[in-house]
Order: sequence, then structure tokens, then C-alpha cells
Amino acid sequence: MDGNGRWAEARGEPRTAGHRAGIEPVRMCIREFARRDVRALTLFAFSSENWRRPESEVATLMALFFDALDREVDELHANGVRLRIIGDRRTLSVRLQQRISEAEARTAPNTGLMLQVAVSYGGHWDILEAARNLARKVASGALRPEEIDAAAFSSELQLGGLPDPDLFIRTGGERRISNFLLWNLAYAELHFTDVLWPDFGIAELEAALADFETRQRRFGMVRAPRAAGGRP
Ligand code: FPP
Repeated sequence: MDGNGRWAEARGEPRTAGHRAGIEPVRMCIREFARRDVRALTLFAFSSENWRRPESEVATLMALFFDALDREVDELHANGVRLRIIGDRRTLSVRLQQRISEAEARTAPNTGLMLQVAVSYGGHWDILEAARNLARKVASGALRPEEIDAAAFSSELQLGGLPDPDLFIRTGGERRISNFLLWNLAYAELHFTDVLWPDFGIAELEAALADFETRQRRFGMVRAPRAAGGRP
């Protein structure tokens, strides 16, 4: 969800106004993907590297996450959404950690859209944590090194048992993954748009899905197993 800062600066407003304006596209995406029976949606809200931003911007973002959890969890729950926060939550305030745990516990039984919000998340961190967890299991004798295959490794990652993303959307004009779900995006179709996140509306979402539909997904094989969206 890139481009909030530039969106605000172009209006002569503080960058934090862009983050506030970024909430509505978040709501729209959750609503639209749930309506289209998408199984899982993961939003990159705050990276491990974003801690390097000015203290006041970080504080505003954290307050925004806290308020959004407070305000939105009832509606998410009513719509059958299961919410999980992925990332290094030990770096978050105790108050925010508590609110996250409550929201996760409340929505855990839901069977609709699986919504992950990445906060204090980095792809390198995710892979290192998984490696450390596996090393601990090997050291304790619970696992043999030969048992570490792709399935065992990916089950230790933050997305756990979720299917790998089919589609990655980045707004804001940059054409890179920027340390998002590095392992899980191995075969994702990448869609980049210059639209700044606060301007990402239904038309842009539909354009991303239409772009996805044009892709031939081969997963390393000669022919696509099925039409777009298919997996071997
Ligand atoms: C990147 O834009 C965006 C962020 C660092 C924050 C994303 C947060 C939201 C959209 C707020 C709501 C989210 C939730 C889940 C409640 P940028 O600041 O890097 O923009 P720039 O590239 O123009 O500077």
C-alpha cells in the first residue's frame, strides 16, 4: 500500500493525512475481495524498515492501527473475516499487542476471508524466524534435518498453512517487492500501478484482477495446469 505520503504532499498536507486517507481503500479491498470469495488477503501496512521514519509519523501509524482495530473488528467479525497480524509483534506496544490478541481470538473461528495485516514485518525476518524455529526443533530432537522440506519450512513462516498468494499488487509506482513475503511470492503474478494508495478504488482493483486473468501460470511447467489462478 504505497504512496500515502506523496498523495498528501501533493495536496500540501502532512504525510499522516495520506495514511488516514489510506484507510478507505483498505476497507474497500477487504469488502471486494471477500465478496469475490478470495480465500486470503495480506496487506503490507508497516515494514521492519518503517521504524526508521520520523517518530511522529510512526506514532501516528501505530495510533491508526490501534483505532482501526477498535473500530473495524465488529464489522470484520460480522462478515466472517478471520484477522491475523503477521510480523514481529514484540516490537509493538503492549497495549497494541493486547488489542491484536483480542481481535485475533475473537475472529479465530471465522471461516470467511483470511485477512493478514503485516505490521513490523520483513521477509528476511520471517525466513530467519522460521530457520530459528526449525533449528530449535532439530536441537531438541523433535525434528531430523532431512525432514526439512519446502512444506515443513513454509509451515513455520508467518503465513503458516495459507496458500501462497496468486497475485501481488503494489501501488505507488515502484516496481519492487521491498522485503514483503519473499518465500511465499515465488510464483505470484506481480501487478504494479502508479496509482497512489489513497486513490486505489474499485476500478484499479478490477484492472489488477483483469491483468491477472491475462497471465499464463505455468509454475515451471511447459503448459499452464489450468486457467489463471490454477495450481498444479
Ligand atoms: C506507504 O506509503 C504506506 C504506509 C507505510 C502505511 C500504510 C498504512 C495504511 C494504508 C493505513 C491503514 C492500514 C490499516 C491496515 C489500518 P508511504 O508513506 O511510503 O508513501 P510514499 O511512498 O508516498 O512516501
